[in-house]
Amino acid sequence: MRDVAVIGIGCTPFGEKWGTSFRDLFLEAGALALEDAHLSGEKIDALYVGNMSAGRFVEQEHIGALIADYSGMASRHIPSTRVESACCSGSLAFRQAVIAVASGLEDVVVAAGVEKMTDVETSTSVDALAAAADREWEGFVGATFPGLYAMIANDYMYRYPLSREQLAQVAVKNHYNGARNPIAQFKSEITIDTVLRSSLVADPLRLFDCSPITDGAAAVILAPLERAREFTDAPVRVLATAQASDTIALHDRRDISTLDATVAAGQRAFEMARLSPTDIDLVEVHDCFTIAEICAIEDLGFCKKGDAGRLTEEGETALGGRIPVNTSGGLKACGHPVGATGIKQVCEVVQQLRGDAGRRQVDGAEIGMTHNVGGTGASVAVHIFGRA
Ligand code: COA
Repeated sequence: MRDVAVIGIGCTPFGEKWGTSFRDLFLEAGALALEDAHLSGEKIDALYVGNMSAGRFVEQEHIGALIADYSGMASRHIPSTRVESACCSGSLAFRQAVIAVASGLEDVVVAAGVEKMTDVETSTSVDALAAAADREWEGFVGATFPGLYAMIANDYMYRYPLSREQLAQVAVKNHYNGARNPIAQFKSEITIDTVLRSSLVADPLRLFDCSPITDGAAAVILAPLERAREFTDAPVRVLATAQASDTIALHDRRDISTLDATVAAGQRAFEMARLSPTDIDLVEVHDCFTIAEICAIEDLGFCKKGDAGRLTEEGETALGGRIPVNTSGGLKACGHPVGATGIKQVCEVVQQLRGDAGRRQVDGAEIGMTHNVGGTGASVAVHIFGRA
């Protein structure tokens, strides 16, 4: 297996993009990544694109072909593949691209993610997202994603010490970081009171405990590490790629407050990189709801079960803390265009390792991690990156 490096990154601003079409979002991110890698499109050998539900959101399927066509690559007939794993689609597209380069089958590869979610009513978005849960056992009886994560939150708060204020602090921290990220959907700082006074969505989760509905795209370019310096002075090495699965319905789980797929993917990634949680300088975790960040920090091994609320309250996950979590603003404040999120997480970690993260820079960052979840944890991908 060859070592793999990220040689270029690009991300559109996230938010409600009324004036930009689905395909134009991809083109914008792809062009930024090519420019960043000092490359032209003719050098690309293959495309992998993460997308969850363009059929429901913009009535377009056959996304691999569409993207190859509109980026001008169809005339060269390069392979272009859509990867779908709900909100984890971006990370799994990234993983497929890493495997393609590592195997020697392809050399210069784009891994991208795109989703345009705001062209439909919220009720349609919520229903499309609910298709990532078990439609027969969960969706048909009215369980939405806020509802399912509310069940996790209730179970967690019954069993472990987590106050409503500590949960709110996750959103406060992520909005603080988002306010320092030019691409974030929400750039305003909030207080615990903002969260506690916002409308109830699914008890105990309120509006500000939820990630929003978002349009956006992100793209990264990969190459063999040995060729990386042909394109960039600051390649970032992929130290580990790991993936795990679990039951799709919550009721079949051993324990709903622990995402076993996160535990498994995290352990596999640490083993592959020969690292442990204390080696990680920053981590982008999947905070689709505030409770999801609490579970992720524990399930990845950054603290013991039941301790993440205290860790968050004491500022250990904030910028300047022991393990900064979601410096991009996370899904909560940066936004969550589901198929693009995993790739945006990679863009954030690469920016941090290059020292290019501006007002949200983690001093001396050398090793970063991404954690991306599909559904309530039926698919999870974890990646570790290091300065090359
Ligand atoms: N956090 C903070 N503010 C939010 C927000 C969020 N998550 N979602 C919407 N808002 C704001 C909007 O900016 C808008 O503010 P404005 O009136 O100042 O412009 C206001 O709230 C109303 O926005 P609207 O789009 O009408 O909200 P909505 O009621 O249609 O949707 C949710 C709110 C919570 C239902 C929706 O964001 C949601 O379903 N989120 C979860 C998405 C999800 O499940 N993702 C997959 C996870 S696995």
